Amino acid sequence: MRDAAPKTIFLSDYTPYPWTVESVNLHFSLDPHATRVRSVIRFARNPAYAGDTPDTMFLHGEQVKLISAQIDGTAVDPEVTGEGLTCAVPAGSFTWEAEVEIDPANNTALEGLYMSNGMYCTQCEAEGFRKITFYPDRPDVMSVFTVTIDGPHPVLLSNGNPVKTGEHHAEWHDPWPKPAYLFALVAGDLVAHSDTFTTMNGRQVDLNLYVRPGDEGKCAFGMGALKASMTWDEQVYGREYDLDLFNIVAVDDFNMGAMENKGLNIFNSSAVLASPETSTDMNFERIEAIIAHEYFHNWTGNRITCRDWFQLCLKEGLTVYRDSQFTSDMRSAPVKRISDVIDLRGRQFAEDQGPLAHPVRPESFQEINNFYTATVYEKGAEVIGMLKTLVGEDAYYKAVELYFDRHDGDAATIEDWLKVFEDTTGRDLTQFKRWYSQAGTPRLSVEESFELDTLTLTFTQHTPPSAATPEPQPLVIPIAIGLIYPDGREALETKVLEMTKEVQSFRFTGLEDRPVASVLRGFSAPVVLTHDLSDADRMLLLSADTDPFNRWEAGNMLARTTMLAMIRDGAAPDPAFLNAIKGIALDESLDPAFRALMINWPGPAELANVLHEAGEVPDPEQLFTVGEQIRDAMAETFADAASDLYARHSVSGAYQPDAAQSGKRALSNVMLAFISRRSGTETAQAQFDSADNMTQQISALSQILRHGEDSTALDAFYQQWKDDRLVMDKWFGLQVSCAKPEDGADTARRLTDHPDFNHKNPNRFRAVFGALIGHHAAFHHKSGDAYTLLADWLITLDPLNPQTTARMCSAFQTWKRYDADRQARILAEVERILATPDLSRDTTEMLTRIKG
Ligand code: ARG
Ligand code: ZN
Repeated sequence: MRDAAPKTIFLSDYTPYPWTVESVNLHFSLDPHATRVRSVIRFARNPAYAGDTPDTMFLHGEQVKLISAQIDGTAVDPEVTGEGLTCAVPAGSFTWEAEVEIDPANNTALEGLYMSNGMYCTQCEAEGFRKITFYPDRPDVMSVFTVTIDGPHPVLLSNGNPVKTGEHHAEWHDPWPKPAYLFALVAGDLVAHSDTFTTMNGRQVDLNLYVRPGDEGKCAFGMGALKASMTWDEQVYGREYDLDLFNIVAVDDFNMGAMENKGLNIFNSSAVLASPETSTDMNFERIEAIIAHEYFHNWTGNRITCRDWFQLCLKEGLTVYRDSQFTSDMRSAPVKRISDVIDLRGRQFAEDQGPLAHPVRPESFQEINNFYTATVYEKGAEVIGMLKTLVGEDAYYKAVELYFDRHDGDAATIEDWLKVFEDTTGRDLTQFKRWYSQAGTPRLSVEESFELDTLTLTFTQHTPPSAATPEPQPLVIPIAIGLIYPDGREALETKVLEMTKEVQSFRFTGLEDRPVASVLRGFSAPVVLTHDLSDADRMLLLSADTDPFNRWEAGNMLARTTMLAMIRDGAAPDPAFLNAIKGIALDESLDPAFRALMINWPGPAELANVLHEAGEVPDPEQLFTVGEQIRDAMAETFADAASDLYARHSVSGAYQPDAAQSGKRALSNVMLAFISRRSGTETAQAQFDSADNMTQQISALSQILRHGEDSTALDAFYQQWKDDRLVMDKWFGLQVSCAKPEDGADTARRLTDHPDFNHKNPNRFRAVFGALIGHHAAFHHKSGDAYTLLADWLITLDPLNPQTTARMCSAFQTWKRYDADRQARILAEVERILATPDLSRDTTEMLTRIKG
C-alpha cells in the first residue's frame, strides 16, 4: 500500500548505515510466479557510524513475501511494512538468513527480477534490489556476493566469475565488493556470441554477448565496440578490466538503454543488437556509445561508486563524458560535439529552463528514478568538460588518476571528486562547485569595443532564478575564444578566458584590424550566449572560423535569425545565406557528415524555446509552416546540385557503419529529401527497392511517406520485417513522425490498435509516443487530441510501469511556452492523470513538479 503523503529525501539528511555487510550469499530457485530467494547476510558494526549501534535494524523490501527469517540460526519475527522490515538485532556481528517469495512473471514494472519473453532478468538501479529480497538497498553498503541459481534454463548468469555452471544449476562469485544496485541475474534459453580480450597486463578475458536464438547475426558489431572500449580505456585512462569474464545480455523489455551490473551488463536489445539490414547508421553509433558507456562504468561507477543517489552525476556525468571522448576518437570529434550540443539544447536546456529544473547534484527527491535526467547525465558531462578545459589536459588526467588511486573501493561524493582536482592543481574549486548545486541555464552576453589596436570583450553572466535555485550566484565560466580578421586570417588562436564575476572584461591588444570574435568555441560552457554579431560577421565565421563547432554555430545562428524573421514578419530567406550553405555542402574538402549537419535547420522545439525566451508565444502550426517553407527554399537552392551530390555520395561496396560511410549516407539522404520534395518519390522508390541496408531503406521510406501517395512501400516494409521487433519499432515510429500535423494523434491512435502494438513493451510504447511527442506540430496540434491521447495511455501504463510512464510525462514540461488555450488543455490532462486513484509515486512527483 502506498503512503498518503509522499516522502521527500534530502541530501543533507545523509547518515551512514549502522552496519557493514561482510558477505552476501543468495540462492535463487526460479519459478515464474513463485521464485524463492534465500539470503545469508553477514552484518558487522560499521566503525564509521557515529553513535551507538541501534538495537533494531531496518532492511528495505518491497513486494517480497517473507517466508522465514533467522538471526544467528534462531527464528525471528520482524515487523514488515510495504517498505521493508524492522528487526531486533544483537549488539555485535550477526548473520541474517531469510527466505522470500517473489513473482517475476507479474513484474510489469521491469524493476527487480522480472521476465521478458520467457527469460528471467533483473534491473536493480536505483532501488530495485529491494524487490528481490530484504536488504540495506543503498549504494554505500558494499559487499561481496556469492549467488547460486537453480532453474530450468540452459543459461544461468550472475555477476563475477563462475564457480560452477551447468544446466539447471550455477554458482557465481563476485570478488569485488559492490552495492546491491549492481547485482544482476539472467536465466534463459540464450545463445552466446563469444570472443576474448587480452588486457594490457596480458590477462585473458572471456567476452560473451548473450541473445535470444535468432539474434546471433546481430552481435558482431557490439562485440567489436566492446573490445574497442576495453582498449580505449586502457590507453586513455590506464584502466584495465578486473574479472576473467565480461557478459552482456540483450533483453527486449527494458526501461532504459542499458545497465552496468558488475561483469554482467544488461542491455535493452535496441542498444546492442545491430546488423546492416536492420539498423541505421545512427543506431550503430548509439550502440557503440552505449556499450562504451556501460563498460566504462566498470571503473567510474562500479570500482568507485556513489555514496548516495544525490551523487548520481559522479558516475553518470563522468561516464557520459568518457563515452563522448571515446566516440570523438572513434569517429569525428567536431561532428560528435555538434551533435551533442544539439541534443543538450534540445533536452537539457528545456529541462533546465522549465519546471523540472534541478541542479546536476539534486538536493532532494521523492523518487530517484525521476532523476536519471539530461541534467544529471549531459549537463553533468559538460561540467567535467569545463573542469578539463580549466585545469588543462595533463592536470585532468593526473587528477583522475588520483581519484582512482584514492577512492578505489569507495562510495564517493562530488566533494571527493573535486578534492582530487584541488590537490592536483592547487586550485580552489569552491566557486566552480556551484555548477553542481545551482539549477538553471546561465545566460552569457558579450559586448565588444575596438580602439586603435585593442579589442575589449565585456561579458555579463546571469542565471535566471528558479524554484530549485532562487538566488543563483556567479559561476566560473571557461570561455574559449578566437579572433578572425575580416580577410579570414586568424588573429588569435583559441584561448580560454576564465570568467568568475558577474561582469568581466578581457582585452586583446596588438591587433592589425578589428577582428570578429569567435566566442565560446567548442561550446566551452553549457550556457545561452547572446552575441550581437552582424550577419556579415556571422558569414565570415561560417566560411573562415578555424573552430568547427563555431563554424557550424555561425550557420545555426544565421538559420535561426532567418527563421525568426520568417515567423515574425513573413520575411523571405536570404538567398545569399542559402547559397553559402550550398557552398559548404558542395565543398569536397569537408567531411560529408559535417556538411550534412550544416544543412540542418533549427527544429520547431528549438524555435519555440527561442521565442519563449524572447517573451513571445510560439504558434506550433506556424513553426511547422516555416519549417516547410525553409525546406522548399533549400530544395530550390539545391535544384541544380541535389542529384549530383546525391549520386556522388551514394556508397558503393559493402556496408560499413563507420564515420566515413555514414557521413556520405547522411549527406546523400538530405539530398534525397530535396529531390523528393521537388520531383516526387521516384528516386526514393528506387532507393527503397535497391537498399541493402536499413539506413537507405528507411530514409527512402520516410520520403515516400512524406511525399508519396500510397502505402505500398509501407506495407512491403511491414511484410519484410514483421518478425523483427526492433525494425517494427521503426515502422511504428516512422508513421507518426511522417504524419501531417493534423493527422499525428489519429495515426498514433490507429497504431495503438494494431495487433503488434504492446504497451507493456517500453520500446514499442516509446516508438509510438516518443514519435508523437517528437513531432512538435502534431503533439501541440490545437485540437489537443495528442495531449489527450498521451494522457489516456499514461493512465493505462502507470499501474503497470511507473518508470516509463513518469519519464514520458516530461512531454508536458514545456507547457508554459504556449498560448492560454494550449496551456489549459495540457494542464487539464495533467490534472486528469493526477486524479487517477493510486497513481504511482514516480508519476505523481513528475506531474506535481511540472504543474509548478
Ligand atoms: N546506470 C545506467 C546507465 O546510465 C542507467 C540506469 C537507469 N536507471 C533508472 N532507474 N532510470 O548506464
Ligand atoms: Zn550510466
